[in-house]
Amino acid sequence: MCGIIGYIGPKKCIDIVFDGLKKMEYRGYDSAGIAVLHEGQISISKESGKLENLRPLLEQLPSEAHIGIGHTRWATHGLPTRDNAHPHASEKLALIHNGIIENYKELKAELQKKGFHFRSETDTEVVAHLLGERIKAGDHPRDALNKVILRLEGAFSLALISDQDPHFIYLAKQGSPLVIGLGKDENFFGSDVTAFCAHTQKAVFLQDGECAALGAKSVEIWDRQGHPIQPKTTMIQWSAASADKQGYRHYMLKEIHEQSGVISKTTHAFVKDSSLDLEGLGLNSIELNKVRSIHIIACGTAYYAGMTAKYAMETTLGIPVNVELASEFRYRNPLLMGEGQTLVMAISQSGETADTLACLKHAKDKGCQIFSICNVAYSSIHRESHGSILMHAGPEIGVASTKAFTSQVLCAYLWTLGAAQKLGRLHAEDLSSILQELKSLPIYMDKALNAEEHIAELANKLYEYPNFLFVGRGPSYIIALEGALKLKEISYIHAEGYAAGELKHGPIALVDKHMPIVAIVPKDQYYDKTLSNIEEICAREGQVIAIGDEKDQHLRDLCIDIIPCPSLKTPCFQAIVSTVAVQFLAYYIAIKRGTDVDQPRNLAKSVTVE
Ligand code: G6P
Repeated sequence: MCGIIGYIGPKKCIDIVFDGLKKMEYRGYDSAGIAVLHEGQISISKESGKLENLRPLLEQLPSEAHIGIGHTRWATHGLPTRDNAHPHASEKLALIHNGIIENYKELKAELQKKGFHFRSETDTEVVAHLLGERIKAGDHPRDALNKVILRLEGAFSLALISDQDPHFIYLAKQGSPLVIGLGKDENFFGSDVTAFCAHTQKAVFLQDGECAALGAKSVEIWDRQGHPIQPKTTMIQWSAASADKQGYRHYMLKEIHEQSGVISKTTHAFVKDSSLDLEGLGLNSIELNKVRSIHIIACGTAYYAGMTAKYAMETTLGIPVNVELASEFRYRNPLLMGEGQTLVMAISQSGETADTLACLKHAKDKGCQIFSICNVAYSSIHRESHGSILMHAGPEIGVASTKAFTSQVLCAYLWTLGAAQKLGRLHAEDLSSILQELKSLPIYMDKALNAEEHIAELANKLYEYPNFLFVGRGPSYIIALEGALKLKEISYIHAEGYAAGELKHGPIALVDKHMPIVAIVPKDQYYDKTLSNIEEICAREGQVIAIGDEKDQHLRDLCIDIIPCPSLKTPCFQAIVSTVAVQFLAYYIAIKRGTDVDQPRNLAKSVTVE
């Protein structure tokens, strides 16, 4: 899992490749490297850690070079060391790779027997040596690539430069994304269009099994049988949106604060003249009348957005809804009804998550209808779908998802309302009262954001606890799960989310006066039940921090603190505003612990390997 980028053309390539890598860093930041080809010589600079560590080493590369490839790594095979950083070199070539070569052990053993010496622990170096072996034997790099990919199992997007053919970059794609950017007398490639969209809007998305030769003035594509493929150009309308911190200390903090604006934009996009825009919600691209079951598929925070969506979707539409982790769904042979009777809905900020994408492809092959909610246009998941919603969250840079989550929850809910309207299952008065509350949602979000200072102070008291529990009922249970995930991700504190009613089936054994328990307890249909659960916790000296109504005396008597959170009628909107408190709590606890909030250890923003 990694980001790759390359350039060939008349310009000096090092800055172009380095800037492209900055845009790719969301795919991994364990190490970075660049290889250039200049006057028939390959030079490589690489370093462990964040991309910035590579910057001082760029001086060692020939500054005039105009053919370059770059890589940012999320370690899958081997530690995040310099030796394991890409590009990997072999005879007369340098290679970068995104994906996993599943049969690398067998291939490595075979090469070692032949006397090849391995400098890294990566799966990628095997590919470099297989190519090097062929090139040394006299194969043209293009022929070497065609032969070697037939031996590889797994997923890969590969880019190769060789001093045996110094006017081309060679590419191959299987399973991992790879897109070419067509310029004037220059060409680019990247893991996604953000790698080069500052330079060109013309993109060619490679398909699985395809290879390409990228020259400065030419692009040639062929399939596994060597048959030429006519490049299909897509004009992208995705600007390299500026993503600076705008004075905030971290992207995550900025993105938490952006949420009321995102809700306004989303409302503006999908609600026109007080009615839902069914076209914008992607509802005209699917045959809803056929749908007998819905599977929502996602990973991480997006999975929790899916779980939140289920509450309204199943009852409002009267269709069974299953929400599942993509990595599980993918291998359990789920019951899918063909002829469009099953709708598979993917939720994904990046639109590139490998497991989610694989589920969609599988479901598509089985004849399901495919729908997606993505933040990134032209992403693989977006392109794979029959119908889709593009979120209006704007670029999310912080690795821990915040504004994308609340935006996903809102989009899925608006889709549900639109679908219900289309199926004739929603009374006009009900819709109008929900839309009325939606109009005020940004104001309620701002009120929730006002709790920031209170939460920052609370974090000063809590940051040294090694464990946390989060509890809630109904949609608040899902926010408890998300709150625990946020805390784990950025503060490295062990935290678990539970349905409040489930506590007494095990987790309550963990409760004593050393255990902080964050209870999400809005004044909704579950309020009395959650309060009883809080009583049970207090009876065991648990330290409860409530997220709810600060004027609620009963809550005040039980809890060590209340994070004020406004009350709303619509459960989905309540879930959205409650989320702000758990995001701030994770953020300020992480700040006190001094962790890397925007790029926490071991994580990546987009997980492009399974
Ligand atoms: C990674 C990110 C999470 C994200 C998940 C799914 O784990 O760190 O923040 O929720 O992937 O990503 P997606 O792009 O599919 O929403």
